[in-house]
Amino acid sequence: MTPSFPIQRTCPFAPPEEYGRMREQAPLVRASLPGGDVWLVTRHAEAQQVLVGTGISTNPATPGHPNGLLSPEPPTPEQLEAAERFRVGQFIDLDPPEHTRFRRMLIPEFSVRRVRDMRPGIQEATDRLIDDMLAAGDEADLVEAFGLALPSLVICQLLGVPYADREFFQSRTRMLVSSAGDPEKGYRAAMQIREFLDALVTEVAKNPQDDLIGRLVTAGEATHDELVGMAFLLLVAGHETTANMIPLSVLTLLRNPGQLARLREDPDRWPLAVDELLRYHSIVDWVAFDRVATEDQEIGGQPVRKGEAILVLGASANRDERAFERPDEFDVERGARNHVAFGYGVHQCLGQNLARAEVEIACRTLFERVPTLRVPVRDEELPFKYDGVIFGLHALPVTW
Ligand code: HEM
Repeated sequence: MTPSFPIQRTCPFAPPEEYGRMREQAPLVRASLPGGDVWLVTRHAEAQQVLVGTGISTNPATPGHPNGLLSPEPPTPEQLEAAERFRVGQFIDLDPPEHTRFRRMLIPEFSVRRVRDMRPGIQEATDRLIDDMLAAGDEADLVEAFGLALPSLVICQLLGVPYADREFFQSRTRMLVSSAGDPEKGYRAAMQIREFLDALVTEVAKNPQDDLIGRLVTAGEATHDELVGMAFLLLVAGHETTANMIPLSVLTLLRNPGQLARLREDPDRWPLAVDELLRYHSIVDWVAFDRVATEDQEIGGQPVRKGEAILVLGASANRDERAFERPDEFDVERGARNHVAFGYGVHQCLGQNLARAEVEIACRTLFERVPTLRVPVRDEELPFKYDGVIFGLHALPVTW
C-alpha cells in the first residue's frame, strides 16, 4: 500500500521511524500526498543526485510540482494571486539560467570573508541578549529571549535595517514565524515586511552605501521589485531556520553532557559540532526539497517520468547508514560535512556560512557565560513543533 505523506516525527531527536523502513526498502518510494502521488527520495546518494538538478525543476509553476499536491484542492485564484505577488526575486523557486542570475549577484555577500567580518556584530548581539536575559531574573524562555531575536538582529545587520526600525522589523518577523495555523496572520506580517523592505530599497537607492542592498543597487543588475523579493527571501530563508536551530542545539547539548564537556575542553571543536547538530536534526527535512522531473530519467535504478513529483527526505538522507557510520548517534566529533541539511547542488543554502556562525556563536557564548544553564523539565513536557513546517520548539524553559 502507498503510505500517506507527510509523516510526523514522534521523537524530537529522530526522524519519523517510517523513514528507516522506507530507506531499507528502496532509494525511491512511492507515497501519496493529499492531491496526488509523489516519489520520496530516502537515501543520501540519490538525494544528492536529485538536488544537483539535471532534468529536474524546483519551480512550483512546472506541471506536476508537489507544491500543488500538498492540499486536496487546487489553489484558489486568490491564493494564486497572493503567490504571484511574492514571486518576483524569489530565486529559490527558479531554475537555471534565471536562478543563476540572482544567485551570482548574492554569492560575494555570503563569502567566508564577509561572514568573518559579520562575526563581531553577531557576538555583540548575542552578548546583549544574554545580558538582558540574565538581568531579567533566573529563568527564561530561550526561544523568546534568544532564538527568535538573534537571527532577526543578524538579518537587520545584513540588510542594513536602520536601528530606529529594528523593533518593528523584529516584531513582524516574529509574527511571521509564529503564524503556523493562522495563514491570515502570516500573510499580514509578510505584507508588512514586504512594504517595509520596499521602502528600505527606495531609501537606499537615493544614497547607496557600502552594504548589501547598497551594493546591489549600485550594481544595477536587478529591478526594484527583484531587490525587494531577494531581501524578503533572505529574511524568510534565514530567520525561522536559524531561530529553530539555536534552541534545539542548546537542548541537545544539555541532554548530552559528555559531548558538551568535549566542547568545553576544546572550543575549537565547535564548528564540527554545529555541522553534526545540523545533520542530526535536519530541521528542514523535505520542506525545501520539492522537485519535479522535467524529463524521463532513472534515479537509483527507478524510472522516473517527466511530470512526476519528487520530495527529497533530507532527514532520512542524513541518517543513511550508507553515508554515515552510526548515523543515529549524536557525535560532535564526527566531522561529516557531507550532510544535506543545507541541501546540495545549485540551490544549496546560500547563507550556510552565516547560519553556522550564528549557531556557533549563540551556543558557545551561552554555555560560556551561563555555565549552570539547564532545562528544568523533561523532554515529554517540552512543546516541540511536531505540527510545524520546520522542526523546532515553540518554547524552551531554561534556568541557571
Ligand atoms: C540553520 C539554518 C539554515 C538551514 C538549515 C537552511 C537550509 C536551507 C536549505 C535546505 C536550502 C536549500 C533549498 C533547496 O534546495 O531548494 C536553503 C536555501 C537557501 N538558504 Fe538557507 N538555511 C539556513 C539558514 C540560512 C540563512 C541564515 C540565510 C541567509 C540569511 C539563508 C539563505 C538561503 C537562501 C537565499 C537559499 C536559496 C538558495 C538558492 O535557491 O540558490 N539560509 N537553505
